[in-house]
Amino acid sequence: MSGNGIFITFEGIDGSGKSTQARALADNIKSTGQEVVLTREPGGSPGAEAIRCLLVEGDTDRWSPETEILLFTAARRDHLERTIEPALAAGKVVISDRFADSTRVYQGVARAELRQTVDLLHDRMIGREPDLTFVIDMDPEAALSRGLARNSGEDRFEEFGLSFQQKLRSGFLDLAKQFPERCHVINGSHGVEEVSKAVLSIFETFRK
Ligand code: TMP
Repeated sequence: MSGNGIFITFEGIDGSGKSTQARALADNIKSTGQEVVLTREPGGSPGAEAIRCLLVEGDTDRWSPETEILLFTAARRDHLERTIEPALAAGKVVISDRFADSTRVYQGVARAELRQTVDLLHDRMIGREPDLTFVIDMDPEAALSRGLARNSGEDRFEEFGLSFQQKLRSGFLDLAKQFPERCHVINGSHGVEEVSKAVLSIFETFRK
Protein backbone atom coordinates (compact mmCIF):
# COMPACT_ATOMS: atom_id res chain seq x y z
CA MET A 1 0.00 0.00 0.00
CA SER A 2 2.91 2.37 0.69
CA GLY A 3 4.91 2.46 -2.55
CA ASN A 4 8.59 3.31 -2.37
CA GLY A 5 8.52 6.45 -0.27
CA ILE A 6 10.22 6.86 3.08
CA PHE A 7 8.20 7.66 6.19
CA ILE A 8 10.10 9.60 8.87
CA THR A 9 8.73 10.90 12.17
CA PHE A 10 9.98 13.30 14.84
CA GLU A 11 8.89 12.79 18.43
CA GLY A 12 9.60 14.37 21.80
CA ILE A 13 8.20 16.36 24.68
CA ASP A 14 6.66 19.81 24.20
CA GLY A 15 9.32 22.42 23.40
CA SER A 16 11.98 19.82 22.52
CA GLY A 17 12.81 21.50 19.21
CA LYS A 18 11.51 18.63 17.06
CA SER A 19 9.53 20.91 14.70
CA THR A 20 12.65 22.93 13.89
CA GLN A 21 14.53 19.68 13.27
CA ALA A 22 11.78 18.25 11.07
CA ARG A 23 11.89 21.40 8.94
CA ALA A 24 15.71 21.32 8.72
CA LEU A 25 15.73 17.69 7.58
CA ALA A 26 13.00 18.42 5.01
CA ASP A 27 15.03 21.34 3.59
CA ASN A 28 18.17 19.21 3.47
CA ILE A 29 16.47 16.38 1.59
CA LYS A 30 14.70 18.79 -0.79
CA SER A 31 18.05 20.33 -1.68
CA THR A 32 19.07 16.96 -3.13
CA GLY A 33 16.12 17.11 -5.55
CA GLN A 34 13.95 14.57 -3.70
CA GLU A 35 10.28 15.42 -3.19
CA VAL A 36 9.38 15.85 0.49
CA VAL A 37 6.03 16.26 2.24
CA LEU A 38 6.47 17.94 5.63
CA THR A 39 3.41 17.35 7.76
CA ARG A 40 2.33 17.21 11.40
CA GLU A 41 0.04 15.62 13.96
CA PRO A 42 -2.51 16.22 15.15
CA GLY A 43 -3.30 17.63 11.71
CA GLY A 44 -1.77 17.24 8.28
CA SER A 45 -5.07 17.06 6.35
CA PRO A 46 -8.06 19.47 6.43
CA GLY A 47 -10.17 17.13 8.58
CA ALA A 48 -7.35 16.34 10.98
CA GLU A 49 -6.49 20.05 11.33
CA ALA A 50 -10.12 20.65 12.39
CA ILE A 51 -9.78 17.91 15.02
CA ARG A 52 -6.44 19.46 16.15
CA CYS A 53 -8.19 22.61 17.43
CA LEU A 54 -10.41 20.47 19.65
CA LEU A 55 -7.39 18.74 21.17
CA VAL A 56 -4.77 21.43 21.74
CA GLU A 57 -6.96 24.32 22.88
CA GLY A 58 -9.00 24.76 26.05
CA ASP A 59 -8.90 23.47 29.60
CA THR A 60 -6.81 20.47 30.62
CA ASP A 61 -10.00 18.62 31.68
CA ARG A 62 -11.76 19.27 28.38
CA TRP A 63 -11.38 15.58 27.40
CA SER A 64 -10.72 12.36 29.28
CA PRO A 65 -7.61 10.41 28.22
CA GLU A 66 -9.91 7.82 26.59
CA THR A 67 -11.67 10.46 24.47
CA GLU A 68 -8.29 11.91 23.52
CA ILE A 69 -7.20 8.51 22.19
CA LEU A 70 -10.29 8.37 19.98
CA LEU A 71 -9.82 11.93 18.68
CA PHE A 72 -6.07 11.54 17.98
CA THR A 73 -6.71 8.23 16.24
CA ALA A 74 -9.53 9.71 14.13
CA ALA A 75 -7.27 12.59 13.11
CA ARG A 76 -4.44 10.14 12.32
CA ARG A 77 -6.65 7.92 10.16
CA ASP A 78 -7.68 10.92 8.02
CA HIS A 79 -4.06 12.15 7.83
CA LEU A 80 -2.91 8.69 6.76
CA GLU A 81 -5.62 8.24 4.11
CA ARG A 82 -5.40 11.68 2.58
CA THR A 83 -1.79 12.83 3.01
CA ILE A 84 0.69 10.16 4.09
CA GLU A 85 -0.29 7.10 2.03
CA PRO A 86 -0.75 8.99 -1.28
CA ALA A 87 2.65 10.69 -0.87
CA LEU A 88 4.43 7.43 -0.03
CA ALA A 89 2.72 5.72 -2.96
CA ALA A 90 4.12 8.48 -5.20
CA GLY A 91 7.64 7.72 -3.91
CA LYS A 92 7.99 10.88 -1.80
CA VAL A 93 9.71 11.29 1.55
CA VAL A 94 7.10 12.04 4.23
CA ILE A 95 8.33 13.77 7.39
CA SER A 96 5.74 14.00 10.15
CA ASP A 97 6.14 16.14 13.24
CA ARG A 98 4.63 13.52 15.63
CA PHE A 99 2.72 10.33 14.82
CA ALA A 100 1.51 7.25 16.73
CA ASP A 101 4.41 7.25 19.24
CA SER A 102 2.96 10.47 20.70
CA THR A 103 -0.32 8.70 21.49
CA ARG A 104 1.60 5.74 22.96
CA VAL A 105 3.41 8.09 25.33
CA TYR A 106 1.00 11.01 25.98
CA GLN A 107 -2.20 8.96 26.29
CA GLY A 108 -0.67 5.52 26.93
CA VAL A 109 1.72 6.52 29.73
CA ALA A 110 1.51 10.14 30.90
CA ARG A 111 -2.22 10.97 30.89
CA ALA A 112 -3.19 7.47 32.05
CA GLU A 113 -1.95 3.91 31.83
CA LEU A 114 -3.80 3.13 28.64
CA ARG A 115 -1.11 1.69 26.42
CA GLN A 116 -3.13 -1.45 25.65
CA THR A 117 -6.10 0.59 24.45
CA VAL A 118 -3.80 2.76 22.35
CA ASP A 119 -2.22 -0.34 20.77
CA LEU A 120 -5.57 -1.95 20.10
CA LEU A 121 -6.93 1.06 18.24
CA HIS A 122 -3.65 1.58 16.42
CA ASP A 123 -3.62 -2.02 15.14
CA ARG A 124 -7.22 -1.76 14.02
CA MET A 125 -7.29 1.74 12.52
CA ILE A 126 -3.73 2.73 11.59
CA GLY A 127 -1.53 -0.37 11.24
CA ARG A 128 1.45 1.54 9.99
CA GLU A 129 4.82 2.39 11.56
CA PRO A 130 7.41 4.90 10.35
CA ASP A 131 10.59 3.67 8.66
CA LEU A 132 12.70 6.00 10.80
CA THR A 133 11.92 7.94 14.01
CA PHE A 134 13.95 10.66 15.69
CA VAL A 135 13.22 11.13 19.39
CA ILE A 136 14.55 14.57 20.34
CA ASP A 137 15.47 14.28 24.01
CA MET A 138 15.46 17.40 26.14
CA ASP A 139 15.46 18.48 29.79
CA PRO A 140 11.73 18.98 30.62
CA GLU A 141 12.27 22.18 32.61
CA ALA A 142 14.09 23.92 29.77
CA ALA A 143 11.65 22.57 27.18
CA LEU A 144 8.58 23.61 29.15
CA SER A 145 9.69 27.22 29.58
CA ARG A 146 10.46 27.34 25.87
CA GLY A 147 7.05 25.87 24.95
CA LEU A 148 4.98 28.08 27.25
CA ALA A 149 6.94 31.19 26.22
CA ARG A 150 5.58 30.73 22.70
CA ASN A 151 2.11 31.70 23.91
CA SER A 152 0.63 29.87 20.95
CA GLY A 153 -2.82 29.31 22.46
CA GLU A 154 -2.18 25.60 21.76
CA ASP A 155 -0.73 24.73 25.14
CA ARG A 156 -3.38 22.45 26.62
CA PHE A 157 -0.81 19.66 27.18
CA GLU A 158 1.91 22.03 28.47
CA GLU A 159 -0.60 23.17 31.10
CA PHE A 160 -0.40 19.70 32.72
CA GLY A 161 2.94 20.92 34.15
CA LEU A 162 6.48 19.78 34.81
CA SER A 163 5.83 16.35 36.34
CA PHE A 164 3.73 15.49 33.26
CA GLN A 165 6.61 16.49 30.96
CA GLN A 166 9.00 14.38 33.10
CA LYS A 167 6.72 11.36 32.66
CA LEU A 168 6.65 12.04 28.93
CA ARG A 169 10.43 12.18 28.72
CA SER A 170 10.91 8.79 30.35
CA GLY A 171 7.99 7.43 28.29
CA PHE A 172 9.72 8.44 25.04
CA LEU A 173 13.06 6.98 26.19
CA ASP A 174 11.35 3.66 27.06
CA LEU A 175 9.53 3.67 23.76
CA ALA A 176 12.80 4.10 21.85
CA LYS A 177 13.99 0.90 23.56
CA GLN A 178 10.83 -0.91 22.44
CA PHE A 179 11.43 -0.02 18.79
CA PRO A 180 15.25 0.03 18.55
CA GLU A 181 15.37 -0.66 14.80
CA ARG A 182 13.60 2.56 13.83
CA CYS A 183 14.02 4.90 16.85
CA HIS A 184 17.07 7.10 17.31
CA VAL A 185 17.37 9.23 20.44
CA ILE A 186 19.05 12.56 19.72
CA ASN A 187 20.36 14.92 22.41
CA GLY A 188 18.30 18.06 21.78
CA SER A 189 20.12 20.25 24.28
CA HIS A 190 22.87 21.12 21.79
CA GLY A 191 22.60 23.98 19.30
CA VAL A 192 20.13 23.66 16.42
CA GLU A 193 22.85 23.07 13.81
CA GLU A 194 24.63 20.42 15.81
CA VAL A 195 21.36 18.57 16.36
CA SER A 196 20.46 18.75 12.64
CA LYS A 197 23.88 17.37 11.71
CA ALA A 198 23.27 14.37 13.97
CA VAL A 199 19.82 13.84 12.41
CA LEU A 200 21.13 14.13 8.86
CA SER A 201 23.95 11.69 9.47
CA ILE A 202 21.50 9.03 10.73
CA PHE A 203 19.22 9.66 7.74
CA GLU A 204 22.13 9.26 5.32
CA THR A 205 23.20 5.98 6.93
CA PHE A 206 19.58 4.78 6.72
CA ARG A 207 19.30 5.66 3.03
CA LYS A 208 22.51 3.81 1.99
P1 TMP B 1 2.56 19.86 18.84
O1 TMP B 1 2.62 20.95 19.89
O2 TMP B 1 3.79 19.07 18.71
O3 TMP B 1 2.03 20.37 17.53
O4 TMP B 1 1.46 18.77 19.36
C1 TMP B 1 0.26 19.15 19.91
C2 TMP B 1 0.06 18.57 21.28
O5 TMP B 1 -0.69 17.35 21.18
C3 TMP B 1 1.32 18.25 22.05
O6 TMP B 1 1.21 18.79 23.36
C4 TMP B 1 1.34 16.75 22.12
C5 TMP B 1 -0.11 16.35 21.99
N1 TMP B 1 -0.34 15.03 21.37
C6 TMP B 1 -0.87 14.00 22.13
O7 TMP B 1 -1.13 14.17 23.31
N2 TMP B 1 -1.10 12.79 21.51
C7 TMP B 1 -0.86 12.58 20.18
O8 TMP B 1 -1.09 11.48 19.66
C8 TMP B 1 -0.31 13.67 19.40
C9 TMP B 1 -0.03 13.47 17.94
C10 TMP B 1 -0.07 14.88 20.04
